[in-house]
Parts: sequence; structure tokens; C-alpha cells
Amino acid sequence: MGRLLIKNTKALVGTHPAGTNHLAGAAMRQLPQMEDGWLLAENGRIVELGQGVPPEKHSESGTQIVDALGGYVLPGWCDPHTHTVFAASREGEFVDRINGLSYQEIASKGGGIINSAMRLRAMAEDELFEKAKVRVESMMRQGTVAVEIKSGYGLDLDSELKMLRVVKRLKAALPLRIKATLLAAHAIPPEFKEDRNGYLDLIVDTIIPQVAEEGLAEFVDCFCETNYFTVPEMERVLAAGKEHGLLGKVHVNQFTSIGGIQAALKHGALSVDHLEVLEPADLTALVASKAGNGRTIFPTLLPSCSFFLRIPYGPAREIIDAGLPVTLATDFNPGTTPSGNMNFVVSLACIQLRMLPEEAINAATQNAAAAMGLGEELGSITVGKRASLIITHPLPSLAYLPYAFGNDHIHKVIIDGIVL
Ligand code: NIG
Ligand code: FE
Repeated sequence: MGRLLIKNTKALVGTHPAGTNHLAGAAMRQLPQMEDGWLLAENGRIVELGQGVPPEKHSESGTQIVDALGGYVLPGWCDPHTHTVFAASREGEFVDRINGLSYQEIASKGGGIINSAMRLRAMAEDELFEKAKVRVESMMRQGTVAVEIKSGYGLDLDSELKMLRVVKRLKAALPLRIKATLLAAHAIPPEFKEDRNGYLDLIVDTIIPQVAEEGLAEFVDCFCETNYFTVPEMERVLAAGKEHGLLGKVHVNQFTSIGGIQAALKHGALSVDHLEVLEPADLTALVASKAGNGRTIFPTLLPSCSFFLRIPYGPAREIIDAGLPVTLATDFNPGTTPSGNMNFVVSLACIQLRMLPEEAINAATQNAAAAMGLGEELGSITVGKRASLIITHPLPSLAYLPYAFGNDHIHKVIIDGIVL
């Protein structure tokens, strides 16, 4: 593998010190920059940083030289919550919502997750793979260098395995880092409508052990929500996951607050995602956990889901002001967020969540990497980390990046030292 030199930058952004895994509370405002910086990568890793004109020896033959043309260089986006493997889009439900139906009303009429599951069960693995690959390639062009992808549209053993095999093939086919999450507990499938315990048994006794044995997932998820899975049901799933080495990354507090956060904390989950409806007791529990077992849990907000469904935005300011490491993700899925664009998420975080540009960028890079267990290898421009980077077009300032929302600011994307 080769050497890569990036020179002529406005600044290297996110040059956190070695050992940085995530940033919490007031520290989220710290986004160190190295003005007029250069960066040398070798074999996909950052090996040296400097300012001004890089030493002559770094430009020796065989080194690929990238002129940043005065653009910023940022750590690439990490997206720690997506449902990128799916069979078909659901714009019919989008029109239904314009006509006044809610997400929950559409689901109770057989739309929603069950609609996606029926389509996915009927689709061959190869076709699913090709469709998902096109989506992830588009995310990479938009600056995403690591992504978590969930199952959860199979809802039976064969179809959940099919989804996770697709994720495994994506890992082999694409240069970005991918983490897989088993989300069999996404909805009760129709064949178990009258026997929800039967479905829970299937997940706990069969699906989790088999997925773990085949090494098809790193994490386990559950949609803990009124009309989906109860808190005790999620606890069963998390306990079984833990027994098989799968850490929890869970959907909680999207529409209602029913105690999912407290249960996730009890089971040592890595992240609690959504949090659009966050009661004071939920926040208190999150803060207490931080002081407690020393393990960090990542409150992950999905503002493009709120935008699309017209539901409340997660209270980022309160969570940051409570000293916690807010994290951002897209939630890319056909029902609630048909977009895998982290640039838009970062803009929404500033516009709607009132996060400062520095906080939003840290949340979408360093904290997002840590929320999928990649905080040591991605998320900042630090010697030793992967050279997975975004080079922007020339911008008047860093705040211009989220400010000028919907515009394409990306000049180049580099993954593991290779220019896309
Ligand atoms: O994260 N909330 C649950 N799961 C997805 C939506 C799934 C769907 O509607 O297909 C989400 O928003
Ligand atoms: Fe989701």
C-alpha cells in the first residue's frame, strides 16, 4: 500500500490528541484545528501532520500528492445508526402522511416495518445486496467512512440471516468500515400476531445464538416503544445478546417514554438512539450512569428522522449541558428517513437542535465512531488513526459547512488513504 500526502489545506479540522475516543458535555465545543496543515498517510493510516510547506522528502516519487486547493480537511462522517439494507422505498406512506395519517396509523394499517418485511422476504439476496451497495456507495461519496447497518426487515430466521449476509458482503465489497446489528426485535411479524412470546422465544433461543455463532453481527437492537416491544421484552433481548457477546444499541423514546433508557443502562448498552421524547427522569438516569459504572453510553439523535416525520427533535442542548456525549446518525431507512446524507444531519443539528458547528462535527465524527466501537481508529485527524477524510471545497469558514445546508461542499473523500 502506498503513501498519500495532502497539502495546501485551509486547516486540518478535528486534530484531537492521541487517545481521544469521544467528547462529552462542554468538551464537545473543542474542535482543534491545524491551520495551513498537511497530512501524510502510509498504508491507510495517518503517520504525520504538520503546518506550512511539507518537507521535501514527503513528496518523493511513489507518494500520491493531493492538493486540497485551500479546502478544509475533516475526519470522514461516521453514521452509527442505519437500516440501509431494504427491498423497496415507501413513498406511498409519505403521501399518506401528507394527507394527515401518522406513522403509527400507517403501521396499524399494515404499512410501516411489516410492509418492508414482506417485500424483503420476497427478494433474493443478490438483488438486496446490489441495491444496498448502490446506497452505501452514494453515502461514501457524501463523506461517510463508517456505517452501522441493522437487520430488522426479515423478522424470521432465514430473512434476518439473509439481511446480515448482505451486510457481510458489503463489508467485503466496499472500503468503508461497516458494523452489523441484529434487529430481529423491530416488529412482531404477522405469523406471531397472536403469540408475541413465541416470537421473543425465537429471537432469544434461535436467532441470536445463530447470528452470534456465524459472526454475522456485533450488536443487538430492539425497538422499545408503545405498540412494538415492551421494556421487559427488550430486557430479554439485551440479556440474550450480552450472553452471546452482542452489545446493545437500542431504539428508545421515539414516540413515548416507557423506561427503555433505564433498562438499556441496566444491561450495559453502548447507545440509546432516537430520544425525541425525553423526560427529566430519563436524562437523570443517563447522567447517573455516567457517574456510575465508568462505561460510556452514547445518546444518539436522528434529526433527519424528526424532520421527515414532523415529530419533535431530540433535546441535544439539554443532553450536552448535562455533560453527555451527544452523537448524530442518519437512521437511513425507507419509512422514516429516506436519506443517508450526514451533511444534512449536521446542518439540521445546528439549525434545529441548536448545536454549535463544532459540537455537531464532533458528534458526527468522533462520538459517532465511538458509538459503534470505532472511536480508537476513526473520528479525528490524529496520528495512528485511519486516513479516512473529507476534503471540502474552499469555504469562507468552518461554520459555513452546516450553514449553507443542502449544498455540496465535498471536493474529495478519502478512505484508508485511498482517494475515492
Ligand atoms: O428508526 N423506529 C423504528 N425503526 C425505524 C423505522 C423503520 C421503518 O419505518 O421502516 C426508525 O425510525
Ligand atoms: Fe432506526
